Amino acid sequence: MSTLACTVNGLKMPNPFVVGSGPPGTNMNVINRAFREGWGGVIAKTVSLDASKVINVAPRYGKHFGLGGEVIGWENIELISDRPFNVWLDEFKRCKDAQPPGALIASVMEEYNKDAWIEIITRCQDAGVDAFELNFSCPHGLPERKMGAAMGQDPDILEEVCGWVMSVAKVPVWAKMTPNVTHIEEPARASLRAGVDGISAINTIRSVIGVNLDTLRPEPTVEGYTTPGGYSSRAVKPIALRMCMEIATVIEKEFPGRTLSGLGGIETGSEAAEFILLGSDSVQVCTGIMKFGYPMVKKLQEELLAFMEKHKFETIADFKGKSLPYFTTHFDLVRRQKERKEADAAKAAAKGMIKGDAEWRGDDFVKQSDALANN
Ligand SMILES: Cc1cc2nc3c(=O)[nH]c(=O)nc-3n(C[C@H](O)[C@H](O)[C@H](O)COP(=O)(O)O)c2cc1C
Repeated sequence: MSTLACTVNGLKMPNPFVVGSGPPGTNMNVINRAFREGWGGVIAKTVSLDASKVINVAPRYGKHFGLGGEVIGWENIELISDRPFNVWLDEFKRCKDAQPPGALIASVMEEYNKDAWIEIITRCQDAGVDAFELNFSCPHGLPERKMGAAMGQDPDILEEVCGWVMSVAKVPVWAKMTPNVTHIEEPARASLRAGVDGISAINTIRSVIGVNLDTLRPEPTVEGYTTPGGYSSRAVKPIALRMCMEIATVIEKEFPGRTLSGLGGIETGSEAAEFILLGSDSVQVCTGIMKFGYPMVKKLQEELLAFMEKHKFETIADFKGKSLPYFTTHFDLVRRQKERKEADAAKAAAKGMIKGDAEWRGDDFVKQSDALANN
């Protein structure tokens, strides 16, 4: 019998499906709802010490529709939580006191200030959270305060800040990467060098969702203007998979035992299976929940279990990273293809079936083509 139950960095979860930080984890009521529906873990909306500096605008979402009218991409210019830190601490504590069936993970972000990071980590962990996700990855708004992706794009700063966090953290810590870099392995490696237990990837991709052809204003339009935002949902999945593959390869080779939480566009159990095959220990869903609601986790579980049963995988660990060995260089693909063609030709020649081009005439042509097709 296959099971979805898994343990990641010592965190016991009924399944690997984690609510990604964002609107689906924006207060205790919705977090409790997610646990009731069966999510294996919840990462709360990102918090900071001084919420009064966080001022949201509306509208802050823009959608990319496919030709069939379905939402394939989603842009947001939403900031981190604008709810007071003390309210969050109280909600973390009450949520944990109720002993939820999965992991409660606090997502935190601060300015480049050692005392601030130490304070936010110690106060959240005193409130009882099971783990942390460090948000080094929001691509809009926060970088203007040198936070989020502004830190995540600088491996030296990342290593230093992760070091501050690890000097006080008593629970597992994941560092969440921005995809808005050329080589995501570099910030991931810097965080792992500083001792974080795992990496989450990816956050949103910096984007402009479109331009309104009546008003000529880019969207989402706030008082006639906009600012580039973060792109998520289905359309980002191929990019997320590539980046997860790159990070998982670094973890496997250089930091065995550390973990990866993969996300970006996951909406089905089969898509979750792909992230696990490329080295993820857990998978997160954010925009998918905004599109389909918390109950989608039941279908996600059914689909992932069906995949596991088809392949006779008993646990997530049985197939984690199983597709990683099949990545290589283009140079090597050319070599492999050349070798295979040469081997086929040699096999056919050994059977005495292939003649020179000049002999391909009439009935012989058909015979020769058939011989090639069968080899
Ligand atoms: C509206 C919205 C708000 C988000 N807010 C946060 C946030 O506060 N902290 C964070 O780490 N990621 C945030 N994210 C990013 C998601 O957690 C996730 O990394 C990204 O959207 C890709 O996954 P998805 O396609 O499943 O949404 C937000 C995403 C959306 C769409």
